[in-house]
Amino acid sequence: MILVCGVARGGIGGATARLIAAAGATVFAVDKAQELLDPTIADIEAAGGRCFGLVADLTESAQTDPIIATVVQRFGRLDGVANVAGGTRAEEWMKLEETPTSSFRATLNLNLEYVFRICRDAAAFMIKNKTGGSLVNVGSISALTSAPYHAPYGAAKSGISALTRTMANEWMHHGIRANTVSPGAVATERVMSRATNPADGGAAAAPAVKFTSVDALGHTIVFLLSDLASGISGQNIVVDSGISSAYCLGSVGLGTLAKNP
Ligand SMILES: NC(=O)c1ccc[n+]([C@@H]2O[C@H](COP(=O)([O-])OP(=O)(O)OC[C@H]3O[C@@H](n4cnc5c(N)ncnc54)[C@H](O)[C@@H]3O)[C@@H](O)[C@H]2O)c1
Repeated sequence: MILVCGVARGGIGGATARLIAAAGATVFAVDKAQELLDPTIADIEAAGGRCFGLVADLTESAQTDPIIATVVQRFGRLDGVANVAGGTRAEEWMKLEETPTSSFRATLNLNLEYVFRICRDAAAFMIKNKTGGSLVNVGSISALTSAPYHAPYGAAKSGISALTRTMANEWMHHGIRANTVSPGAVATERVMSRATNPADGGAAAAPAVKFTSVDALGHTIVFLLSDLASGISGQNIVVDSGISSAYCLGSVGLGTLAKNP
């Protein structure tokens, strides 16, 4: 049983859930609305896989905290977790010196805090039951160098890789592995609709960007969840088709792909 948080059909989580099911595991999918869960569940079932869904807003602790207990009560086991939900919030793209505290907190809440809660509770179950398991948390190349005009997101995703390294260290003797997967520019439905929308300034930038497929991210996550990756823990695997070897979404003063407000 693999828990996947954030499974919208056109995103990384939807691809991940489909690939996990195709590899033979049962998926327990969490998203904020039933209409986001249904298409991915339908895809998996149409391909002969098994997927169960739960609606929860991961930014609300009252909805996040019961998730692991729900999985365990219903299925009696939990082998791994992929925390994919997250993303930049449209409201946060601005100069750092103008960023309101409320915006900073909202981005950290969406991208970092729920990951702590889910992994803490998953590990507590795995430790108590001596099962071990694999945790994969999705970061971003925005955490590698700097995150111009989206500083809260860069800070949250840096937090993901730091937190995940500590998970790997504290829990290695319990057979729990923990890794970060950091995407570059991914060809999700959301990103591609923005990248081709001239009103967003995306059309000009899009040809310069090397996009990575959602399946490329999903395959990496499935690998890390599987026993094929039994020796890998505490790592940050960048899956960006090479773009961070040249730049990281641009930086102030060097010409930037990030939106300069
Ligand atoms: N797409 C990219 O280019 C890119 C680049 C770097 C990092 N990432 C990271 O990859 C992950 C997936 O991004 P994506 O591009 O597939 O985005 P997406 O918007 O397609 O998927 C995000 C998922 O999270 C879910 N979600 C959002 N808020 C939620 C909430 N409050 N409660 C429950 N579920 C919620 C969404 O419904 C959706 O299923 C994110 O963590 C994002 O930060 C994406």
